Amino acid sequence: MCGISGIVSGENVAAKLLSSIQNLEYRGYDSCGMAVLNARGPVVRKNVGHVADVAEKELFLSLEGVTGIAHTRWATHGGVTPANAHPHLSCDKTLAIVHNGIISNYARLKAALIKRRHKFASETDSEVIAHLVEENRKKGAPLERAFTSALKDLEGSFAVAMVSIEAPHRIYCGKHESPLILGLGKNEFYVGSDFNAFIEHTKDAVVMDDGEYAVVSDHGYEVKRIRDGKPVRKTIMRIDWDSEASRKGGFPHYMLKEIYEQPETVRKALSVSEDSIVGLAKGLTGAKRAYLTGVGTTYYAAKVGQYYFASEADLGVPAASSDEFLENSPLAKDDFVLAVSQSGETYDTLRLVREAKKRGAKTAAVVNVVGSTLSRLVDQVVLQGSGPEICVISTKAALAQMIILMRVAIEAGRMNGRLTPAEKRRKTAQLEALPALISGFLNEYSGLFHTIAQKHASRHNWLFMGRGRFYPVALETALKVKEVAYLHAEGMPAGFLKHGALALIDDTLMSAMFVPGESEKELHRMTMGSVAEINARGGRVIGFHFSKSLRGSKLFEDQVLLPSAPPLTSPLVALLAGQLLSYFLATVLGRDVDKPRSLAKSVTVA
Ligand code: F6R
Repeated sequence: MCGISGIVSGENVAAKLLSSIQNLEYRGYDSCGMAVLNARGPVVRKNVGHVADVAEKELFLSLEGVTGIAHTRWATHGGVTPANAHPHLSCDKTLAIVHNGIISNYARLKAALIKRRHKFASETDSEVIAHLVEENRKKGAPLERAFTSALKDLEGSFAVAMVSIEAPHRIYCGKHESPLILGLGKNEFYVGSDFNAFIEHTKDAVVMDDGEYAVVSDHGYEVKRIRDGKPVRKTIMRIDWDSEASRKGGFPHYMLKEIYEQPETVRKALSVSEDSIVGLAKGLTGAKRAYLTGVGTTYYAAKVGQYYFASEADLGVPAASSDEFLENSPLAKDDFVLAVSQSGETYDTLRLVREAKKRGAKTAAVVNVVGSTLSRLVDQVVLQGSGPEICVISTKAALAQMIILMRVAIEAGRMNGRLTPAEKRRKTAQLEALPALISGFLNEYSGLFHTIAQKHASRHNWLFMGRGRFYPVALETALKVKEVAYLHAEGMPAGFLKHGALALIDDTLMSAMFVPGESEKELHRMTMGSVAEINARGGRVIGFHFSKSLRGSKLFEDQVLLPSAPPLTSPLVALLAGQLLSYFLATVLGRDVDKPRSLAKSVTVA
């Protein structure tokens, strides 16, 4: 939700802290701030707005000191105001904290602190932490214990970092259910909500677990248990993402860069070891009941998976959105839950997986972020290796997840005899042909999507439709258009039209239809039937299809003849069409593409 950063060094940290929260900005970007320790205490600068603007306005770079913490916020408790931005100070201004998560008992803690004459400067839940530590210090606890006692009082989720004038070369940090990672440099140590906080400086990291805290200095770190202060031995992890991969590399937006990286992320998904794929396929086929889950885009990736398990393996594997799962799906011992998540930190998905484990179900995940909470929670994890996805909107990670689920579905089909080894080889070859197909498509078609977006960006209402495996593609495209172009868009199975939505059709509603290739005879015919129904009611349709014979068809106001692809992979080509359309609608409308309003990359709160 929010981004946390901290640096202890032998030299000034302000510039590095600034670049660190710029790299974390996708986690939240309504306000930001930093606190750098000087001889008199932490100097706090903060305000609302994007990091670059606030940094300029608040003269972040003029801060001097070798120890500092910084934060980029996505508001939960308290509006977007300068006072609610982090860091937060104690009353005596000797210590400052930054926090990510939600402290569910903050109201009670705050009331008790107010009774003890603490003055609060913000409406946030986070500020209680600074006052709790201060209160513990007043009662005589040494700083480290004052910090851990404060953490023990917190309910909910937190990752916290603190600096204090009493320990000018230290950062204290701790976590429960919100991610926190240490970066190990040379005479310089880092704290971050994820690797992007310090990937420019080091690839060596320590992933903190729930219930742990750390004391970090410029020459080392110690990790201990919050409960009793006992030291914990941690393994050092080497991150193979390079900092270059986190830069825009000449693209105007990360979203476009990440769309263009998809040939490579598909290759990476195809190079995930056969053992991992077999492991997931065994889990799914061997379970009494098996489910796929995710939320938002990853739910749609799971939904794509559901269709492929049916077509390739004759298996009914329902996809349930993780936020609704516990209400709509029975879950018990020996069930199998396969979760999909880019960040591996999404609250809804983690909550579900924790509950699944409690009930004795087996759990597995396809995850992008190495060391993330989900990746460490499940019984079986497959790392998709898509590299950092910086744009808040998920594109390359989602496609890679679909590829992995398709591989698992094909493998499950081979295992249960639905596919012969030769069919498996043929389908795998079709997947392997995808990177080249995608490269060609992106290079040749971007201009066309820009033109279509320019022509139709003034339409405020969109209906995206498809049948079969094109239905989840329609859902995903509608989500993309909503979140990045801020246009009202719905995704719907084309078959629903005559069950109600036809009443909406008029010449102000833009319909977009994903039409399967002609080799899928029945689906193609029925989908074109839906196009005709819209036309008959004076509606307007943009067609995304694979049929040369439809070129020039009067049924479409605009159309894109997509490059020919076998039925197995054609929905993925349609998905790319949806990505490009939403990207160009957003740029034509001047939207903040990489940081759409009100959204955050990793939603770690309920
Ligand atoms: C949409 C998008 C979100 C995420 C969702 C789950 O473009 O990115 O809908 O897919 O918040 O996030 P992860 O995959 O990190 O669990």
